[in-house]
Amino acid sequence: MTTRLTVLATGGTIAGIAGNAIAQDYRAGEIGIEEYLERVGGLGLEAELSGHQIANIDSADIGPQVWNPLHRATMEALNDPDCSGVIVTHGTDTLEETAFLLDLTLPSNKPVVVVGAMRPADAVGYDGLRNFANAVRVACDANAAGRGTLVVMGDRVFAARDVRKVRTRGSEAFRGFPRESIALVTPGTLEWFGAPWGDRKEARLAWCDALPEVPVVYVHAGQNADAVKCQLGENIRGVVVAGVGEGNMPEPVRQALIQVAASGVAVVRASRADEGLVDREPEDDANSFVAARALNPQKARILLQLLLASGETDPAALQRAFDGR
Ligand code: SIN
Repeated sequence: MTTRLTVLATGGTIAGIAGNAIAQDYRAGEIGIEEYLERVGGLGLEAELSGHQIANIDSADIGPQVWNPLHRATMEALNDPDCSGVIVTHGTDTLEETAFLLDLTLPSNKPVVVVGAMRPADAVGYDGLRNFANAVRVACDANAAGRGTLVVMGDRVFAARDVRKVRTRGSEAFRGFPRESIALVTPGTLEWFGAPWGDRKEARLAWCDALPEVPVVYVHAGQNADAVKCQLGENIRGVVVAGVGEGNMPEPVRQALIQVAASGVAVVRASRADEGLVDREPEDDANSFVAARALNPQKARILLQLLLASGETDPAALQRAFDGR
């Protein structure tokens, strides 16, 4: 039986053009989905592909204006009995945020695979065709079910919750934390490490078209509270701290955030370190702070936005959500 996959394109370097095979500069989001599917048509992929253009932009500009139609289109495809899975093409810069958002909010065991490329489509060594062929291989595999939204970059498969961009250049730019890659893939082979970790028929959290604004405060040595207070503004309901080490911050910043938390704003401590595991500290109870555990600041922000949108504000309940996988 033919496997039918829906490809939802959002832009990025995978659809980028430099105009010169060795140029450093290029424009992300130039090739449309029709042309892209023509290009991959010659690869002999095992699936029948149909595509929709959701956006064609640099992923730095992606936010609710793209997430909302992307989520709608993904749900439509997953609800179609003829569609076996979805591939989302995306810029690599914020790919992890979109993938995690989908992972938390999609109610389906069908595979959803997010894929990008580090080099534009006309560059020597364009990685977008191989990454895409790998994504098709994953989306066609029965064992992809029950693993949530997946990310394919290079010859590796990552869980959306774990994946993070760790390098600005080069085709091996992604890693997973705390789990490394959960499968190795080539266009013709796929090897999973470990069993799927649960049924995904229910979404973890409800979708919301109007996510609340949640700033990330980036902590640095010698920081005072003035810039932090400006950043927090009047109507903020939550804030994520990209702290030093295990989510630490200078004392003036801590005092400012204690005050903010006392006024009912959710404060989540994450780490600016690449592999930043942040556990609860004894003072978190008194301060009403939440520990981000293994989530980096940008993913902690996505989770906090969804939790606040669902009406959750109690620090203990927020902490339980951050503790869950
Ligand atoms: C982007 O994120 O849209 C540009 C960079 C990339 O895709 O690698």
